[in-house]
Amino acid sequence: MIMFSISKLRKIEPKIIALGSYPPILQSIIDFDYLSGKKSPSLVGILASGRKSERYFWGKKEIIIPVFQNISDFKKDVNLFLNLTSGRRVLESTLQVFDYFPNIFGGVIFAENVPEKDAISLIQKSRKYKKFIIGPASVGILIPQKLKLGPIGGVTPTQQIKARLFETGKVAVFSSSGGMVNEIINILAQKRKGISFALSFGAERFPILSPKEAFLAAESDKNTSFIVYFGELGGYDEYEVAELLQKKLVKKPVICYIAGFISEMFKTPPQFGHAKAIAKRKKESAREKMKALKKAGAKVANNFSEFLKEIEKIESTIINRQEDLSKIGEEIEKRKPALFISSISEEEEGEVKILGKDLVSFAKNHTFAEILVSLFLGREIKSKILSKFVDFILKLLVDHGPGVSGAVNTIIASRAGKDLVSSLVSGLLTIGPRFGGAINEAAKNWLSAIEKNINPFDFVEEFALKKYYIAGIGHRKYRIDLPDPRVKEILSFASYLKEKRFTQFALAVEKITTSKKGNLILNVDGAIAAVLLDILYEKEKISLKELKELTEIEFFNAFFVLSRSVGLIAHFLDQKRIDEGLFRLTPDLISKIKPFERKEKKF
Ligand code: ACO
Ligand code: LMR
Repeated sequence: MIMFSISKLRKIEPKIIALGSYPPILQSIIDFDYLSGKKSPSLVGILASGRKSERYFWGKKEIIIPVFQNISDFKKDVNLFLNLTSGRRVLESTLQVFDYFPNIFGGVIFAENVPEKDAISLIQKSRKYKKFIIGPASVGILIPQKLKLGPIGGVTPTQQIKARLFETGKVAVFSSSGGMVNEIINILAQKRKGISFALSFGAERFPILSPKEAFLAAESDKNTSFIVYFGELGGYDEYEVAELLQKKLVKKPVICYIAGFISEMFKTPPQFGHAKAIAKRKKESAREKMKALKKAGAKVANNFSEFLKEIEKIESTIINRQEDLSKIGEEIEKRKPALFISSISEEEEGEVKILGKDLVSFAKNHTFAEILVSLFLGREIKSKILSKFVDFILKLLVDHGPGVSGAVNTIIASRAGKDLVSSLVSGLLTIGPRFGGAINEAAKNWLSAIEKNINPFDFVEEFALKKYYIAGIGHRKYRIDLPDPRVKEILSFASYLKEKRFTQFALAVEKITTSKKGNLILNVDGAIAAVLLDILYEKEKISLKELKELTEIEFFNAFFVLSRSVGLIAHFLDQKRIDEGLFRLTPDLISKIKPFERKEKKF
């Protein structure tokens, strides 16, 4: 048996990790926190596959809750879990949480149909690690104004307000049935008898937190004066409770009702809705369990209306806050999700803010490079070297003559009479794996090599074996004996850094590739990727994981696209000024080849 303590739960600030996602339940927890007057949601993150975040409401305002694919990515502190995974996955996912968060107090398992051997194994683990686990098939636990771990007490704000989950009282409510826990909470609310806490054990054959543990928790909870219990036929838990009453280990008044008399009308015992609700032996029948509880001193109702009458006798404790909350509840239920969300800028009453600051003052106090790299990163940058580097590469990449892919396309489009935007876009569309758009892929490569600690020889070999080109290596014009003057300048920024691991790796790769072929130099894309990674890692303190995320959103290519747009626009304007008319190739500039002569290239 574990010591399940409500007073301990009352003392902590709940920080919940959800295993799996079930938005209506998670929103109900966030609404409970909001209506309880908390400053922030108790749900700190979700462990699930899919997106990086989920949208929820904090009152009427939309917020995002982070979603993590792997528990090791979950760097936040948590003290409770809510397991929303399927029955098959419950054991594995719960044990993973215990391993990763050794200080977690415990949590709730919502899923039904947890294999019985898994439930038994969880009972053993719960005792071994001294963590409470409520469920499986539980709607959770509720402590008014403090904790809502599951759909218990209602899902919508109106349901929660009607159930008076924000007003504390003296009654502890238990049932294996989630529906009945909610029903009793509502009955108590109507009669203005507040609850001290409520929980459902879950109606599976093997509840991990036993009714006995819950009754002991109520006994030791200072805020609880009464226990209301709705039981049903099946299982023997009530005999353990009766023993507690008999031995005076539970002295607080217990009002209970055990459902399932109808079972006696059948020759063979019927199975009711819950897995546990079947009385195969006499001792499991509602009648026998009631007898035992009566004998032990509980107030046992013979039918539901008697049960209600007994509840009626409990003193009323609720002080009314209902009216104010009902208004807020109605208001927040009108909320609608926005069409999309933005984390970088906002506009309100004509004022534009970027990264939370007034754009006009931001523009006055920051350079263009500082503004754009902050916007690209989604947060204000810290280091001068980053803004200097970005400023430099933006200037350096503006143009590389009229002959390069992008410029050619823009020039042709401009001469074909196309407008500015069309001509610009036609040039931009050439940016890709061979031309200017290899920065991101190069960053991916350098990053994965450093992460996996691959040596440069093996790295080059791996690409050669697959017959793939290495992004950031090679140039049509420049060779080892005709170096690209831009690359030297880009690399010079690494001298401001301590470790420069990415730059060193890229240079080591270049040494190997140029020893194979003179044109396989580190090109501007490869050099920018390496130095930018080093600056972001060393000066902006961006972790390897976050850098990887930046490569996933193509952050690194943004600089070439932006800068070269300047050159492409300039070429468009230049052509319009010159006004030579339509461009057309003459046949002598096109050689005919037979299809089999075409050289296959692989990327
Ligand atoms: N990795 C490995 N081998 C390469 C690479 C590379 N990145 N680039 C060229 N080679 C090899 C080719 O296999 C070829 O070998 P072969 O003669 O034995 O067949 C030889 O070098 C020459 O290759 P080409 O394709 O003729 O070289 P080309 O001058 O056309 O290509 C290019 C230049 C497109 C830049 C190429 O090197 C490449 O794709 N590099 C990777 C992508 C890249 O970094 N692009 C950005 C360039 S910089 C910029 O655009 C701003
Ligand atoms: C560029 O900056 O456009 C060049 O490096 C590409 C090229 O083909 O020269």
